[in-house]
Amino acid sequence: MHIRRFLMVALVVGVASIAAAQTFNPRDDIKPKDEESTVSNDRLPDPLSGIESPAEWPARREQIRQLFATEMFGNVPTDKLNAIKVKVKVKDQGTRKSIFGGKATMWQPVVTLAGRDLQLLIFLPSESKDTPAFLAYNFHGNHTVLDDVDIPVTEHWVRNKPGNRASAQDRGNGASRWAVEKIIDHGFALVTLYYGDVDPDFDDGFANGVHAALADKPAGDQWGSIATWAWGLSRVLDYLETVPEIDEQRVAVMGHSRLGKTALWAGANDERFALVISNNSGCGGAALSRRRSGETVARINTAFPHWFCKNFAHYNDNEAQLPFDQHMLIALMAPRPVYVASAVEDTWADPEGEFLSAKHATPVYQLLGSEGLPAKEMPAVDQPSQGSIGYHVRSGGHGVTDFDWTEYLKFSSKHLLNK
Ligand code: GCU
Repeated sequence: MHIRRFLMVALVVGVASIAAAQTFNPRDDIKPKDEESTVSNDRLPDPLSGIESPAEWPARREQIRQLFATEMFGNVPTDKLNAIKVKVKVKDQGTRKSIFGGKATMWQPVVTLAGRDLQLLIFLPSESKDTPAFLAYNFHGNHTVLDDVDIPVTEHWVRNKPGNRASAQDRGNGASRWAVEKIIDHGFALVTLYYGDVDPDFDDGFANGVHAALADKPAGDQWGSIATWAWGLSRVLDYLETVPEIDEQRVAVMGHSRLGKTALWAGANDERFALVISNNSGCGGAALSRRRSGETVARINTAFPHWFCKNFAHYNDNEAQLPFDQHMLIALMAPRPVYVASAVEDTWADPEGEFLSAKHATPVYQLLGSEGLPAKEMPAVDQPSQGSIGYHVRSGGHGVTDFDWTEYLKFSSKHLLNK
């Protein structure tokens, strides 16, 4: 191109994109209300930049996904995994028993992945066939999900326990986070597993977990632990495709906190997940990075250097240079239903930043012909807003409560059961 014409085009494109960015999102949306932002004149990138029609979305979507993969979560080393033929395999069909007065079956098959045993804990409504399901990692081992002696105590590394070993005393400790009976009563199955089965959550130089099957350390743009856990969820879905009781086309992936970040990245990469739920996922999940409210990119990369790929550290205290923000991660779910949930006291996860991500993903849903998030302003506490994007900020702090599950079941029943 002739240099003068090139400069002219660059000027026009530059002015047009500044104008688009300004109309797209005023700075007030990014700036935390309660503190002076250190980022000046910062704008959210536009997920629809350069496109006008639904037909153009898949290519734009892939461009955005690749940016997240390369700059933040890291790419899965597919070639290496293929070279050693990594696949999920059934190791043990597991026992089944009837629970909740015969309403449900508890089933515990074991699958293997890259040399690791993944112990699944599955709750099926009785006489299930092609039942929709929630797939969600648990934080502390299957034995914490329900107080039942038949659920084995995990033998894998666990956080915050003496010697990093789980104990039988913790049976049912996390039960308040799992509305198992309510899930069954709504006609859904629940599939859960301990995330440490896939990769233990500490900075181990990628020597443990499924990484042990690969000889070398990942490159700067290759997976951190969140991408590894997300990949693990997809491999569990491969297995669920072989289970007649479960409808693999109606699997909702759900996660809380670091596992909410994981659920979002799993949903972004694997469009087989029919619905995605992020519970209090915060920084690196649903919360906008540019707001720098609560946890920041620098803080998360310092405290958890193994979660993201090495390239993400380039954005420590440098969020303005990110080629995306987290509303574009939410947009990667489109047109599938996605729910973002916050808790009002969970300021570390920046509830408003989570709401704004859901709000600013909405133009992508609208381009694809659905409503997105109905709320234009942050909804009042305990007042959910549910379209094809759902959002609520509930009372209380960081955690998963019955209120959260009630709303997830309402949202999922509407989208996956047409109720
Ligand atoms: C820490 C971390 C968060 C994360 C949370 C969790 O608070 O800073 O990013 O979401 O742990 O997973 O519980």
